[in-house]
Amino acid sequence: MDLQKGTILVTGANGGLGNAIVSQIISNAELVTYNGIFTVRNAEAAIRFRATLESSKSAPVSSKSYEIIPLDLSRLDNVREVAATINTNVEARTIPPISAIILNAGYEEFGEQTWTEDSLDTTFVVNYLSHWLLTLLLLQSMDRDRGRIIWISSWSQKHVAPGDRHNIMNGSFQDSRYKTMITDDLEPLAKGTWSPNIDGEHTWAAGYRRYGASKMCGVAMIHELQRRLDQDPVLNNVSVLAVDPGGMATGIVRHSNWLVRVLVFRIFAGMLAGLLLLIWPNGTWRTPHKSARDVLAAALNDGPPPLSERPKGLYLNGSELGDYNFEAKDPKKGRAIWEGSVRFARLKADEIILKDWM
Ligand SMILES: NC(=O)c1ccc[n+]([C@@H]2O[C@H](COP(=O)([O-])OP(=O)(O)OC[C@H]3O[C@@H](n4cnc5c(N)ncnc54)[C@H](OP(=O)(O)O)[C@@H]3O)[C@@H](O)[C@H]2O)c1
Repeated sequence: MDLQKGTILVTGANGGLGNAIVSQIISNAELVTYNGIFTVRNAEAAIRFRATLESSKSAPVSSKSYEIIPLDLSRLDNVREVAATINTNVEARTIPPISAIILNAGYEEFGEQTWTEDSLDTTFVVNYLSHWLLTLLLLQSMDRDRGRIIWISSWSQKHVAPGDRHNIMNGSFQDSRYKTMITDDLEPLAKGTWSPNIDGEHTWAAGYRRYGASKMCGVAMIHELQRRLDQDPVLNNVSVLAVDPGGMATGIVRHSNWLVRVLVFRIFAGMLAGLLLLIWPNGTWRTPHKSARDVLAAALNDGPPPLSERPKGLYLNGSELGDYNFEAKDPKKGRAIWEGSVRFARLKADEIILKDWM
């Protein structure tokens, strides 16, 4: 353990982007001294992912240590169990403190809308609430001098002002009732009633809006959580950042129709992304490899700008600074998202070390 720089935690590690991040961690000589905690949805996926890593060319270059653990982000009780195990191990010094938490797992419903055991919208819980809870529970294990929390974002959260051109083109936020994601109550997002599947409308659009709103809540944390950390006597050096990885040919569209899944993502993005990067190095379509590099730079690098020493509250579009949803910048909405998160995750004072948590 003495030789290890710290722990890097990655959720959704066996997905398209997660796999690319993990491959770079375990094969890069500079990252080799970090301890990896890679979470996947279930035990079966953990076995398969371990076998994939062990047989891949990017096998660990030396005494690299990592563990693959099951974590189902649709279950808040599972988040609590996993966080408790990690906290125990850091406290016992069997693993080093956490240098970076990469909140990467993602879920998008293009068809049926589903709810968790707690009657909350699954998209909201997997993409946002569980990641929020995991982060708060793990604050006690963060490296207090240079810990970083990275929210993986998406252009889907930019519904209006500045409206993302992809969202303008797909028209999913056109109706006036979808111009505001949150007013002063998180409940419509948490329960999935803000954008439910309704008759007469494409279900993909409703699911896409729920996905965008869950991503907006994560982006709001680069202000709301960062502000609370900045005021904390112990945690004020911890940074919160968001990274939009751009469009990538991955499994995120697995529940979508043939046109999107095969034609756009597999054939167009899968085959052409490498080429498109030569023309637009940080364009709309990227490879998981390039986006993984951007995420790891945000998670671990200091400088050059915009990643100067201890960057805080930044939104990165890949390797550049980016703009994001105006609602995520609004302190009142940030507070509403926070208070709703405390309520829906049933957070208790004795679970966390953050002073300003209510
Ligand atoms: N691909 C894009 O164009 C794009 C664009 C913008 C942002 N992003 C974001 O990039 C991140 C990575 O996504 P990706 O593109 O790599 O898609 P992906 O290949 O589908 O990976 C998503 C990962 O999340 C995991 N996951 C889903 N539900 C989960 C749950 N309940 N509990 C635990 N893990 C769960 C998946 O596990 P299973 O494999 O077991 O389902 C998978 O490992 C996501 O946050 C996504 O929103 C992607």
